[in-house]
Amino acid sequence: MALKFLVVFLSILFAGGALYAEEGKRVFETYCWGCHHQTAVAFGPSFAEIASKRSAEEIRGMIVDPEAVSKTFGYSRNAMPAFKLKEEELRSITAYILSYKPKAEQ
Ligand code: HEC
Repeated sequence: MALKFLVVFLSILFAGGALYAEEGKRVFETYCWGCHHQTAVAFGPSFAEIASKRSAEEIRGMIVDPEAVSKTFGYSRNAMPAFKLKEEELRSITAYILSYKPKAEQ
């Protein structure tokens, strides 16, 4: 009986995780794809590069207020527009970017 509950619980967790990743990908394709690619440098740096040097808070900060945050990152001129995303979109895109962190650093 307990095992049955565990199986149900784990499948809900798994389905939730998959949906979450799906949402991050959707946000990426909707808002970021024109200037960022997952692993290749585009107009902006790749997600793999960003994930290797930034924390979740820094990534969120950049999305919400790139003008201020890009200065603290050392960019002399900000070329990224600010995005007004919903909390869950912010959370899922941040997780999506961090999922590209090079394996050796995880
Ligand atoms: C119009 C082009 C453009 C779009 C669209 C765009 N970015 Fe950017 N992004 C840039 C550029 C260019 C930089 C480099 C910093 C700068 O110029 O301000 C950058 C930098 C960043 C950085 C910081 C890079 C670092 O040094 O760590 C993050 C994080 C980031 N972008 C996330 C996103 C996310 C998430 C989205 C989608 C919601 C997005 N960007 C959409 C152009 C864009």
